[in-house]
Amino acid sequence: MVDQQPLDERDYDRARLRQWRAGLATDARLTRRDVARLAAGLSLGAGAAAFAGGRPPAASAAERPAAPEAQAGPILKPLPPELFTVFGTNAEMRWEAMTGAGHLVPVDRFFVRNHTRTPVVDAETWRLRLFGTGLRGSPTAEAPVEFGYADLRRLPAESVTAFLECAGNGRSFFGGQQGQSVSGTAWGLGAVGVARWRGVRLGTVLRRAGLTRAAVDVQPEGLDPDFVSGGVNLGPVRRPLPVVKALDDVLLAYEMNGRPLPPDHGFPVRLVVPSWIGIASVKWVGRIEVSASPLFSPWNTQFYRLFGPDYPAGGELIDRQVVKSAFELPWNASLPAGRTHVLRGRSWSGNGRIRHVEVSTDGGMTWQRACALGRGEAAGWQRWEFPWRPGAPGAYTVRARATDVTGATQPAQTSYNTLGYLFGAVVAHPVTVV
Ligand code: MTE
Repeated sequence: MVDQQPLDERDYDRARLRQWRAGLATDARLTRRDVARLAAGLSLGAGAAAFAGGRPPAASAAERPAAPEAQAGPILKPLPPELFTVFGTNAEMRWEAMTGAGHLVPVDRFFVRNHTRTPVVDAETWRLRLFGTGLRGSPTAEAPVEFGYADLRRLPAESVTAFLECAGNGRSFFGGQQGQSVSGTAWGLGAVGVARWRGVRLGTVLRRAGLTRAAVDVQPEGLDPDFVSGGVNLGPVRRPLPVVKALDDVLLAYEMNGRPLPPDHGFPVRLVVPSWIGIASVKWVGRIEVSASPLFSPWNTQFYRLFGPDYPAGGELIDRQVVKSAFELPWNASLPAGRTHVLRGRSWSGNGRIRHVEVSTDGGMTWQRACALGRGEAAGWQRWEFPWRPGAPGAYTVRARATDVTGATQPAQTSYNTLGYLFGAVVAHPVTVV
């Protein structure tokens, strides 16, 4: 057994930033020149160029699934326009698709965020390979501790209802509402979904693999193709987790909403890291490095950090999601005048349950409590409704503002960051009364 203090995320982030600045960030897959080019392309500053060094080799071709010849696009499931807005390799859920859809988001409308494309993995031959200096005997990437799909399914199973949300969800409102230009996929608010996940605790697998007290970071790696950005091959999608979080509530999930994981959502096995930004929940996981020294990847040094005038040089690491709300309405919805409409929506937070939600229909001048529907989960969402009888026909905006158990409330503005993460400000949703 490994005894761990509870995770203080701020301390963890500060320590990693110090280590990164000191040149401790290492990755065998990238040269210093690659990183300097990448940093220049992303305007990240000189700090990013500290990133180079020696890491285990990437998964061999034999471990990676081959691209099926007939694969039509980066996402395999149908993406009908009434359910999704497609952005390249990604697809955002339309919020109106949740009207009457129940508490969980059905797979047919759950958003997809792919850095490259959905791989087709055969569960029969799939192996989860664990290695690194944080495991007993320091197994190497070439001679790892292995688990098959059936091995995982034989271990004690647990379920959790949790949201999965991209760190960039709401990014388009930096431009649309705050007049700021940021880079990245221009998501509205639909890069989020709540599902019931079932699988085995990552902690169970780590302990069976020989986790030692020396372990500090755990890095899952996807079997999808390498991600190339600005002409630089960054290798497979991977991002380290502190071992304390890994042992807390993280699942190696093999079911979503009561069925085997669909290919686009990580079949056969993915991580589900409740309350954290979506990148932590690595899909199609093939390898996990468990290390006695800090791990770094482009996904915690160059991306998924807050860069900008309000943040330290080198940026600030992000993990936990902020409070957000959305209406189950089309953008620019048309509502008939002269009758009462029940506006419905959902609010969620990475800090825990939603305490209450307020709605404004007069441009944010006055706010009234929405009525909670059922009891939301700590890592899921709270549904709510609000009856509204609009006055004369015309253009309106409706706003929802949630407060979570920690007292955190959605602000009027989100601090600018160059990559457009964590947009938690109240969104002005346009509605036309006709
Ligand atoms: N894992 C792998 N291997 N490859 C990816 O591209 N995208 C991440 C995460 N895990 C990604 C991944 C991001 S940024 C998000 S938001 C979630 O998966 C999206 O999960 P979903 O596509 O099942 O909704």
